[in-house]
Amino acid sequence: MEEKLIEVVDLKKYFGSGIFKKSWIKAVDGVSFEICSKETFALVGESGCGKSTVGRCTLNLIRPTAGHVYFKDMDISSMNEVSRDIRKRIQVIFQDADGTLNPRMKVFDLMLEPFRVHGLSNGHGKEMVNELIEMVNLTPDLLGRYPHELSGGQRQRIGIARAMALNPEFIVADEPAASLDLSVQAQILDLMRKFQAEHGIGYLYISHNLKIVKLMADKVAVMYLGKLVEVGRTNDVFNCAKHPYTQALISAIPILDPCAGRKRILLKGDIPSPLNPPAGCRFHTRCPYRMKRCMIEEPALVGDKHIVACHL
Ligand SMILES: Nc1ncnc2c1ncn2[C@@H]1O[C@H](COP(=O)(O)OP(=O)(O)OP(=O)(O)O)[C@@H](O)[C@H]1O
Ligand SMILES: [Mg+2]
Repeated sequence: MEEKLIEVVDLKKYFGSGIFKKSWIKAVDGVSFEICSKETFALVGESGCGKSTVGRCTLNLIRPTAGHVYFKDMDISSMNEVSRDIRKRIQVIFQDADGTLNPRMKVFDLMLEPFRVHGLSNGHGKEMVNELIEMVNLTPDLLGRYPHELSGGQRQRIGIARAMALNPEFIVADEPAASLDLSVQAQILDLMRKFQAEHGIGYLYISHNLKIVKLMADKVAVMYLGKLVEVGRTNDVFNCAKHPYTQALISAIPILDPCAGRKRILLKGDIPSPLNPPAGCRFHTRCPYRMKRCMIEEPALVGDKHIVACHL
């Protein structure tokens, strides 16, 4: 049986808003899930629904307002600073590696940095960097360049190599392939899958791209305005979406066959502000099936393996 790596329990993150921070942006408002080793758990939803905030809280890059994040039964959310040992075991790949690569450092030093920080280079830095650069299919001639002298795909692969360097057990991948063309995207995703097969890594895979999620993920959680509305195995969610929001997201995936005859569900309006989320079911303002009850009563997430928060 796969080992439980991450357990997120009733996670909340509120950001103070306004000059006097008197109102709260409820970016994440009571999210719970578990991720096992060798598992890819995808988090999907519209822009601004709180996906990256969940990712950052899971890594303790920002402190949650409430709730807990356990990494192998250690409560990392209550630690003031995550220890070096845990930092080594949990890593992150950002959408845009650009922001995470020091522009004044050459690729060689960027690749060496994770080993150096953890005191692991021991005079073998050159071999370690060469191994790493080969692992992500880059050529050694890039080692003398600065990040701005690389393509977006090359920079992203360096970001991935840095995340993988220390053999982590868990990685938060926040839109790791979003800004790349299709061929580089495929290479990056292949690479991530290869590492998972070889090292049993668990991924929290954050993405808008449901086509990729369908290929990559074992489980999918759909997020709307700071809350999860549906969670299940990828096949169950894609073949039998229960929440109207999930149904609308899936109906919007482009299909190549013009004869397939699928009906697109168009949602009206934008996602409401997390500063003032609607009462009752947060989705009721855009839901084509809303009932009176939806405007008053918040639906709980119910179900066994395929769970959904909807009164329908
Ligand atoms: N540091 C911050 N201070 C105030 N508000 C924030 C902060 N970080 C995020 N937010 C707000 O929290 C909400 C969730 O943001 P988040 O970045 O998690 O969304 P997301 O789902 O990752 O969106 P996207 O798909 O566009 O990346 C947004 O309304 C955002 O404006
Ligand atoms: Mg984001």
